[in-house]
Amino acid sequence: MKVLVIGSGGREHALVKAIKRSPRVREVLVAPGNPGIAAEARCAEVPVEDIPALVRLAQEEKIDLTVVGPEVPLTLGVVDAFQKAGLKIFGPNREAAILEASKVFTKNFLKKYRIPTAAYEVFTDPEAAKKFLRERSDSRWVLKSDGLAAGKGVLVPLTLEESLEGVDRILVKKEFGSQQLVIEEFLEGEELSFMVLCDGVEGIALASSQDHKRLNDGDLGPNTGGMGAYSPAPVMTEALAQEVMRTIIAPSLAGMREEGRPFVGVLYAGLMIQAGKPYVLEFNVRFGDPEAEVLLPRLESDWVDLFEAAIEGRVTKVPAKWRPGSAVCIVISAEGYPVAPRKGDEIQGLEAAGELAMVYHSGTSRKDGKWLTNGGRVLCVSALGDSLELALKQAYAAVEKLCFRGMHFRKDIAARGLAKS
Ligand code: AMP
Ligand code: GLY
Repeated sequence: MKVLVIGSGGREHALVKAIKRSPRVREVLVAPGNPGIAAEARCAEVPVEDIPALVRLAQEEKIDLTVVGPEVPLTLGVVDAFQKAGLKIFGPNREAAILEASKVFTKNFLKKYRIPTAAYEVFTDPEAAKKFLRERSDSRWVLKSDGLAAGKGVLVPLTLEESLEGVDRILVKKEFGSQQLVIEEFLEGEELSFMVLCDGVEGIALASSQDHKRLNDGDLGPNTGGMGAYSPAPVMTEALAQEVMRTIIAPSLAGMREEGRPFVGVLYAGLMIQAGKPYVLEFNVRFGDPEAEVLLPRLESDWVDLFEAAIEGRVTKVPAKWRPGSAVCIVISAEGYPVAPRKGDEIQGLEAAGELAMVYHSGTSRKDGKWLTNGGRVLCVSALGDSLELALKQAYAAVEKLCFRGMHFRKDIAARGLAKS
């Protein structure tokens, strides 16, 4: 069969590699892909936002199955458009993708179906929001702009002054493009990514993983799209996974059906484990990036079988078999990320690194035979190992081969996992 992958980052690079492992797959096409992905799959220059052009591409190329990486085409209705054209596609439709597209919808949904999440209020009036915060200045609050903001619309202020400034950024300057603000209680604990493959009615938990959101070691510095990940995460015990399925995933899937928005695709619950109990911080409607770069290589079974089972409403019938051991990935970012990453620096050592680990390209370009940086997150280096220690050692050995001006990466990926395992 012929598979189309939509997207252009490290997650999509990992998707391409995982899909190519299926004996059923003859060819993988990527739209738009990137020069690193182009080394192993044909790329078509169609942007992820151009839904009609993606439909045309799938028709012209006689694509049998399409897999969507990023959230933007999902919230624009790529799944609806493909289905209307009679094309098979994996991912939630526009109505279901609202779980990522609107934080206000999601918070109200969680409350309605009594799914554990931080207490919150929604504001449109900046003065009312400030009054709320001033009257409750003895507690810590998190400010979230409604709508997609590429991971930037969440503020975690330390002081009342910072909170008030945050209200202005979201509701007055409208820095993140939304008119609505969610103010929610700050939860203390350990964060965890929990991804579930869903068929509209039921879901199967994928292996657990943990992302590292802050730029610098020790969870310091600004929030990023993710600086590294490992899987499995020892904090996710079998008992906790069952509790998450029972108290969060099952009621969410049932609630979405109740709302007339059955969820098919990867439901990503960003969780906070506070005093042993899981709370939903956010939902994403797709694989996490960089979580995909550790999850996808860990599965022994055929991903294409799983995607099709989800589309056809029989996800629990296909066994998902995971390799024993662990996977680790280290994100290599450019100087200036996440604010203003510098581009165009020459990358050395890709070949040597590729001999030791999987090097997924996130933001690279190719010019005159040279590899250049071309984004905030540049590369994602993933390794498998019989243990977390071994996977880590292997991934960092590969990272050491890489070099470019301003190259940045965290040296403490999986430290929490190591302490627990
Ligand atoms: P979100 O996009 O909602 O996941 O938020 C981005 C990041 O902000 C999360 O990964 C957390 O680190 C942090 N965060 C979000 N909500 C809360 C909360 N209620 N309490 C503490 N930290 C939070
Ligand atoms: N790694 C977090 C995300 O994909 O949103």
